[in-house]
Amino acid sequence: MLPLAAGQISGVVLQLAYRKKGCRSQRDMGAKIHKSCPLKGLCRNDIPYTLAAPQKFRNLKCFCKAPTPALHLPVLSLTPVHPLHLHTAFTPEVMAPLTAQPISKYVVVIDARVHSLHYTRIQGALPPHTLHLVAPGEQHKTLATCERIWQFFYDVGLDRKGCVIAIGGGATTDMVGFAAATWKRGVAFALVPTTLLAMVDATIGGKLGVDFGQGKNLVGVFAEPVGTFISSDFLVTLPERELRAGYAEVLKHGLVADAAYWQQCSSGLPAGAGVLETIQRSIAIKSEIVEKDPAEQGIRKVLNFGHTLGHAYESALLGTPNELLHGEAVGLGMALEAQLSVQHAGLAQHQADEVVNTLRKLDYITQPVSTPWATLAGFLMQDKKNVGDKLNFTLLQTIGHAGYDLQVPLADVQKLLAPHLL
Ligand SMILES: NC(=O)c1ccc[n+]([C@@H]2O[C@H](COP(=O)([O-])OP(=O)(O)OC[C@H]3O[C@@H](n4cnc5c(N)ncnc54)[C@H](O)[C@@H]3O)[C@@H](O)[C@H]2O)c1
Ligand SMILES: [Zn+2]
Repeated sequence: MLPLAAGQISGVVLQLAYRKKGCRSQRDMGAKIHKSCPLKGLCRNDIPYTLAAPQKFRNLKCFCKAPTPALHLPVLSLTPVHPLHLHTAFTPEVMAPLTAQPISKYVVVIDARVHSLHYTRIQGALPPHTLHLVAPGEQHKTLATCERIWQFFYDVGLDRKGCVIAIGGGATTDMVGFAAATWKRGVAFALVPTTLLAMVDATIGGKLGVDFGQGKNLVGVFAEPVGTFISSDFLVTLPERELRAGYAEVLKHGLVADAAYWQQCSSGLPAGAGVLETIQRSIAIKSEIVEKDPAEQGIRKVLNFGHTLGHAYESALLGTPNELLHGEAVGLGMALEAQLSVQHAGLAQHQADEVVNTLRKLDYITQPVSTPWATLAGFLMQDKKNVGDKLNFTLLQTIGHAGYDLQVPLADVQKLLAPHLL
């Protein structure tokens, strides 16, 4: 089913927007004029609350009439307000909801590879802006790169009424979002994801940050963009390996939350309109989970399935010839954690086998390269999800349902990995 061919993506433009419970103007204020609406000018009666929105929030209208300027949300707030726009092609209409707002200045920070592949095509669809390129890849998702981004913000005089548009994969959107959310205590930012992984996962849910030392995403904040603008036509140039990596997060959504979706996804990424439908369904699953628990105090942890061992291998192999993409590491982590789930979460053995076999069939790495235990154990003990020195896992109870905060002794992990340890 992979990869996509140019021209396969067509069809109607879908606009997808959802608003969270936090908008009092939608939920509680009825027809009253609400002068201090937390959405401020972002309240738009003309945006349909459709698709990803849970049923109860669909077709709700904001009754806020206050003509306060938009995009001055407290970006570090944990009240998620996250308009999503899903399209097949990046046309000027895609950014229209953003450009309708009174913004003092737009700056675009873009992955250099995406710049060379797509900038000429998309330039005219972006609002007038100044441009800054960041080097592609996880190794540049650092505070050092952030410093250069902040220097650029300083040089162009980006003030609190400005807006940063981040264009690239998850490494870029995580880092540029973080740079924006911390610049002058937070300026508005919009995300334009260009990889499958960033479309279905990284730009949904408000987690932003950079790697630190050898640990992944150790420095970061929760903050919501003023909009996420997804256009599936960016995927035409995405290498098959990157598509497969992104698809691992799609499979994860099925495994932790929707057995039927897992079954459907088990045959691989569909072509044509099916791509957009898959993106849409994955976003809906993640959004629904994040909405219940934006700060990851509980249920949101199910999204970490595959990530404890995945992150350990991703970090351990970074910079080696066996380096894994994030999604590849998650695929490996899911295969290993499915096996751990049998003993520690009651997953039926045949379901664990189904997970591993499907991942193998879809060309994921399911057996790790030999790695020193001390290296892995070091990363495992640093995992943000641990409490004290306990290893906290998210594991499958059945396909379609995950449990979280499941404590697994380090020795059991070592036993599972024993055939693959140096
Ligand atoms: N914030 C979150 O909730 C969250 C969730 C999942 C992953 N992430 C983060 O996302 C990152 C991984 O994201 P990613 O896989 O998008 O990685 P990435 O940003 O490194 O992009 C992968 C590669 O694809 C290239 N690329 C991007 N778009 C392209 C296109 N349209 N055509 C051709 N090449 C293109 C990039 O230059 C890069 O080389 C990790 O840093 C991970 O921690 C964050
Ligand atoms: Zn992930």
